[in-house]
Amino acid sequence: MGLLDNFYKNIGIDLGTANTLLYLEGRGIVVQEPTLVSLNNRTGQILAVGEEAKKMLDRTPAHITTIKPLMNGVISDFETTQEILRYFLHKIKNQSFWSRYKTALVAIPTNLTEVERKSVEDVTIAAGAGRVFLVEEPIATAIGARLPVEEATTNMIINIGGGTTEISIISVGGAVISKSLKIAGQKLNDDISKFVKEEFKLLIGEPTAEELKINIGSAIGVEEKLEMPVRGRDMATGLPREVVVKNTHIRAAIHRSLKAIVEETKTLIESTPPELVGDMLTRGIYLAGGGSLLRGLDKFVEKEVTVKTTVVDDPLTSVVRGLGVILEDMNKYDAILSNQQKPKQVNL
Ligand SMILES: Nc1ncnc2c1ncn2[C@@H]1O[C@H](COP(=O)(O)OP(=O)(O)OP(=O)(O)O)[C@@H](O)[C@H]1O
Ligand SMILES: [Mg+2]
Repeated sequence: MGLLDNFYKNIGIDLGTANTLLYLEGRGIVVQEPTLVSLNNRTGQILAVGEEAKKMLDRTPAHITTIKPLMNGVISDFETTQEILRYFLHKIKNQSFWSRYKTALVAIPTNLTEVERKSVEDVTIAAGAGRVFLVEEPIATAIGARLPVEEATTNMIINIGGGTTEISIISVGGAVISKSLKIAGQKLNDDISKFVKEEFKLLIGEPTAEELKINIGSAIGVEEKLEMPVRGRDMATGLPREVVVKNTHIRAAIHRSLKAIVEETKTLIESTPPELVGDMLTRGIYLAGGGSLLRGLDKFVEKEVTVKTTVVDDPLTSVVRGLGVILEDMNKYDAILSNQQKPKQVNL
């Protein structure tokens, strides 16, 4: 080990469709911001990244575009993704004196192709990391949630993010059977916009749909009276109009998508080898990702799949916290880091 190694820190990166999180060795989570960039579309120049770009969303002048460079967990805009990472790495570097990062652990969905995995590696190196290890998200989630991954146990994890829901079964040190769906947070927002359009003949934007979901949405019936006034554009007159949306509306709007997630979960359980299923069923299902914060989603999954279901602690950060646990003790997790082969995908 060279003298300078002490100055180079390792980092963990969870580059999500909705949110990007960074974990800095010895520090903890140092970045948790939306994966967003606003560009001046005349000059192509980046005006703001993350939280700052989100603020611009509401009052965007015509010459500014806000873009999300990931689609369904996959990098769709390499240049912009690189700029985002570079920006965040630079931001945390300013808080300290080290000049570059040694190893980056990057969480990836299990269904990436070789080319997509390579693209994640390249973007991370281009943004300033010395070397890169890819860690599958369900494994990072399990470690972040302190589930027993090294022992001979089997865990089922459903990570509901912004762009994708990953349903995975992991056992002993990281073998993964998983299924990735494009039904997640953004799809629920779309469902809500569509419902409001059909029911109230009113057009609302995605930020409003997301607010409705978070503030008054639920997967099952709730005791409390949840409703929210929203403003949109009347489809007939083109003028602004306000309506009061109720919890029952949101539930109806998102029901079909939630049902699709549990149906896929059941199918994955049915296709899992019996010797793994027994252990998994006693341990239960763990929900992670921002989508798992939807009111009553655990109860809904538990009722539909008939398996005990728990939301992990702080589900928005479990992936990056898992990367943190690994990078604070890289030798211990050697097996997971060298397990770079492509995991098995089930085509159902
Ligand atoms: N309280 C809440 N109720 C329902 N959904 C929520 C809540 N809080 C956040 N979300 C949703 O969680 C999603 C973001 O979750 P997360 O940060 O885990 O996604 P991501 O990792 O960026 O995406 P992906 O894993 O698909 O690439 C958003 O769609 C957001 O609307
Ligand atoms: Mg995610």
